[in-house]
Amino acid sequence: ERDGELRAYQQRQEEISKLPVEMGWRNFPLRLYHGFWFHEPHLNGVISIRRNFCRPAPSDLFLVTFPKSGTTWLKALAFAITNRSSGHHINSGHRSILSRHPQDCSPYLEAFYAGPQVPDLDAMPSPRLLGTHMPYSLLPESLRDEGSPSRIIYLCREPKDTLVSTVHFINTMGSEQSSIAGAISMDQAVELFCKGLSPYGPVWEHQLEYWRESQRRPDKLLFLKYEDVMAEPEANVRKLANFIGRPFSPEEESSGLVAEIVELCCFEKLSGLEVNRTGVRGKEIGVTINNSSFFRKGKVGDWREHLLPEMAEKVDVITRDMLQGTGLSH
Ligand code: A3P
Repeated sequence: ERDGELRAYQQRQEEISKLPVEMGWRNFPLRLYHGFWFHEPHLNGVISIRRNFCRPAPSDLFLVTFPKSGTTWLKALAFAITNRSSGHHINSGHRSILSRHPQDCSPYLEAFYAGPQVPDLDAMPSPRLLGTHMPYSLLPESLRDEGSPSRIIYLCREPKDTLVSTVHFINTMGSEQSSIAGAISMDQAVELFCKGLSPYGPVWEHQLEYWRESQRRPDKLLFLKYEDVMAEPEANVRKLANFIGRPFSPEEESSGLVAEIVELCCFEKLSGLEVNRTGVRGKEIGVTINNSSFFRKGKVGDWREHLLPEMAEKVDVITRDMLQGTGLSH
């Protein structure tokens, strides 16, 4: 079986090497696959998921984002909501988020599937929280099927804030490869981002695919916005719990559990925790990412501190164009 997996992996590498390539951020190559750009290791994961992930369960929760749109926050919230318990033990139930990095509460599927070995997700406890950045159109057929039992939560973020967050994140990544440049400037990043040349880009198509599907199948796809969750965290935590099929009971409501979960998962709380301030990850995709890099500012509108007016305008023009008439706005 291992030989078969290795052969399939090499075959995917071969396919990827024939796809259109562009030098991306800090010269990490980006490959074009069905209209979206990917870093090579993640793309191997994407293709493997499409071929090997075939059994979504009714209890599965797919946590989907465009990179740097609040994945970490969504993972923490979904984990706390699905694991909540009325006990008062320190570090049990929803409070166990205090001792786990949110990225470890739910696998990032593309990284999980990036290597030769096809991971066994059957062993995961239910409900499985499965994180992915895959565009909707590239999700495995079994998930897009009208009759798919699984639920998908998409967290969307304003493109300029997403762009600024991406710049900072990619510039903190470590790589052994000599071809990788030191840092990308904001100027270069705007240029590439607007051409769709960013991991999983273009961002607009990514958001619109999920937006349209959420209109078509609102019972299976919940579309949330980072800015809305920030403005009304409790209402959005209730919305999440309802969508998951585990609404807060009157007892839970009166005990203040909703506010407690919001508090536990807020930026200030999570970014201060030892488990989130130390350690690194990224080995499986050949880079070094500090656990702390997932927490930078957690602000709405931070782009104002980083983008010149003409850079902002360049992004806004595309956003206006792309979203016009779709019902989605930022
Ligand atoms: P900034 O770089 O704008 O601060 P992702 O989790 O998708 O990688 O996105 C990371 C972004 O979400 C970063 O944005 C990060 O600071 C922010 N973030 C992380 N945890 C958060 C939380 N608990 N609440 C709000 N924002 C959070």
